Amino acid sequence: MKLLVTGGAGFIGSVVTRMLLDHGHEVTVLDDLRTGHREALAPEATHVDLPIHEAARVLTPDAGFDGVLHFAALIAAGESMVKPELYWHTNTVGSLALIDAVRAARVPRLVFSSTAAVYGNPTELPIPETAVKAPTNTYGATKLAVDMALTSEAVAHDLAAVSLRYFNVAGAYRHDGRSIGERHDPETHLIPLALEVAAGRRDKFQLFGDDYPTVDGTCVRDYIHVEDLARAHLLALDAATAGRHRIYNLGNGNGFTNRQVIEVVREVTGHPVPVEVAPRREGDPAELVASSALARAELGWVPQKPTLQDMVGDAWEFYRTHILEQR
Ligand SMILES: NC(=O)c1ccc[n+]([C@@H]2O[C@H](COP(=O)([O-])OP(=O)(O)OC[C@H]3O[C@@H](n4cnc5c(N)ncnc54)[C@H](O)[C@@H]3O)[C@@H](O)[C@H]2O)c1
Repeated sequence: MKLLVTGGAGFIGSVVTRMLLDHGHEVTVLDDLRTGHREALAPEATHVDLPIHEAARVLTPDAGFDGVLHFAALIAAGESMVKPELYWHTNTVGSLALIDAVRAARVPRLVFSSTAAVYGNPTELPIPETAVKAPTNTYGATKLAVDMALTSEAVAHDLAAVSLRYFNVAGAYRHDGRSIGERHDPETHLIPLALEVAAGRRDKFQLFGDDYPTVDGTCVRDYIHVEDLARAHLLALDAATAGRHRIYNLGNGNGFTNRQVIEVVREVTGHPVPVEVAPRREGDPAELVASSALARAELGWVPQKPTLQDMVGDAWEFYRTHILEQR
C-alpha cells in the first residue's frame, strides 16, 4: 500500500514506519518535527515537513494514497491542562483538517492513535472499549473528540476507520542491529525516567503516592511493548472496513505497579534507582488495565513481548546506545 504516516519522526510513528517499510509498503512521513527527531526518520520513507493542518497539500486526489496512519499529536497530559488551546488546536483541529483531506482525496482507510486517557477514572477493570468515557485531562478529551469525529465520518462518508487506544507504550524496536526508541522532551513516561536515574542523569525517581489500594501502595499501569503495538497497526490496516469505525484497546491486560517497574529497571541495568515518595498527583487513578480481548478476537493480535524485562531491556539498549553514548 501507499501510506501516509503523520508523526513518523516520533517514537511510535517511527517504529511503525520501519515495520511498514519492512513489509513492502511505500511510506510518506508527514511531520514538522515539533517534538520529533530527524534521525528517527526512516531513510527509505519520503519526508514532508508540514503540520497536519496542511495535510491536503500531500493528500491530493492524484497522489493515490491507500491509507493514513495518524500519530502526530501533542501527548503531555499535564501540559494539556495549562495550554488547553494548544492541545485542542493541534490534536483536534489538526485531525479534523486531516480527515477533510482524506475525504477530499478519497483515501479509503485511516488508523488513529487514540489513548487510554479517554476513559479517565475507570468504572470497571480490565477496561473494555464500551467503558464510560470521561477523560480527566484535556489531552484525553482532544483524542476522544477525534474518535467521535471518526465514527460519524465512517458512517457518513464510507471511511474505513480504526482507533487504537494505547495504554502505556514502552520498549524499543530492535531492527538490523539498530534500535528505535523513545525520546520525549521533557520526558514524562515512567520507564525512560527511571532509566535516566539508573544512568545517573537524574538524582532520584519521584514516586507519586504509595498509599493507593494496590499490592504495594503504588499505581498499577498496563504496559505494551512498542513492537507489539506496531504489529497491531499492520493488522488494523488489513481489518479496516469501509463504513465502519472499529475501536480497540491495546494493552497486555496485566498491570504492574510503579515499584515493580522500578525493581525491573534496577535488575536490568544493574544500577541503583533511588526513590523519593511524593504526594499523590491529582487525577491519577489507582489502576489502569486494558481489556484487549476485542483486538485479540477481531484482529488476531497476540502480544509477543509482554514482560517488563523485555520492555525495560529493549528501552535500556536504546537509551545506552542512542542517548548515553551520543552525548
Ligand atoms: N507514548 C505513549 O505511551 C502513548 C500512549 C497513548 C497514545 N499515544 C499516542 O500515540 C501517538 C504517538 O505518540 P509518541 O509517543 O510517538 O509521541 P511523539 O511525541 O514521540 O511523536 C509525535 C510526533 O508527531 C509530530 N507532530 C506533533 N504535532 C504535529 C503537527 N501538528 N503536525 C505535524 N507533526 C506533528 C512530532 O513532531 C512527533 O514527531 C500520539 O498521537 C499519542 O497521543 C502515545
